[in-house]
Amino acid sequence: MSLPKLGDISAQQLINFATPKYWGIKDPARFQALMEEAKSLVTPGHYLGDNLFTWGRNNSMFEDESFRQAWTANILNDADQAIAWRRYVLATLAYNVMPLRGDFVECGVYAGTGIKTVMDYLGGKDFPKTFWGYDTFDYNPVQGHSFAGQAEGFHAQIEARFAGYSQVRLIKGFIPDSFAQGIPEEIAYLHIDMNNAEGEIAALEHLFDRVVSGGVIILDDYEWSVYRSQKLAEDPWFEARGYRVVPLPTGQGMLAKR
Ligand SMILES: C[S@@+](CC[C@H](N)C(=O)[O-])C[C@H]1O[C@@H](n2cnc3c(N)ncnc32)[C@H](O)[C@@H]1O
Repeated sequence: MSLPKLGDISAQQLINFATPKYWGIKDPARFQALMEEAKSLVTPGHYLGDNLFTWGRNNSMFEDESFRQAWTANILNDADQAIAWRRYVLATLAYNVMPLRGDFVECGVYAGTGIKTVMDYLGGKDFPKTFWGYDTFDYNPVQGHSFAGQAEGFHAQIEARFAGYSQVRLIKGFIPDSFAQGIPEEIAYLHIDMNNAEGEIAALEHLFDRVVSGGVIILDDYEWSVYRSQKLAEDPWFEARGYRVVPLPTGQGMLAKR
């Protein structure tokens, strides 16, 4: 397969991005009005949404036409729209590990948008690696956090979304029990996005040693204070192995395996 190419971009003109999707806002109308004013006070290249407000940035994700297409084609809701920067972190890390040995893995798949965006960026149906996705799918395993649509038949619905993507293996069941159905020998890309510490630690226990040298691990919730229990569990887990998570402004955490 050929990897996506960057096209020509303007030397001067910057892209602005704004979406009214944030979390943890007390008075959304007032906040939105203030942000509208704030946008008018900053230099171009702003990104507003997903609890980020930055300006004077290149916003590279929107200048990469292949990514823009993959991202927009897979948006199912306003959160998918807002998290473009997070998706570009996934897409570009995935790009960089393509030459390595090993499969791709996502723990916590939900509707499959994370997997499909990355695959569509890197060849779509011609994506040349096996992509394993683990989730309960048909029921919500996380207390106090619901995922719309999870009910009997959800797994079949997400399987249908990947029709023609024969490299995708969507394994239904509770992590870590579902790993008994199969895990790859070698992993180049490991995205963990489960919104609970116990499940994420269990995933790391089973999968971290299989990540190849140079492979990447991305923790979607690591730097979000609302999921602080995950950081509290993950920091000592990684420290015991001589690793420290790189916290990203997107709320993700990432590290590369030595
Ligand atoms: C935020 S969603 C994943 C979103 C997805 N990664 C994306 O990028 O679009 C979290 C998912 O983790 C799954 N999950 C959480 N704990 C789990 C466990 N122990 N076993 C299986 N799935 C789990 C939930 O069912 C839910 O679908």
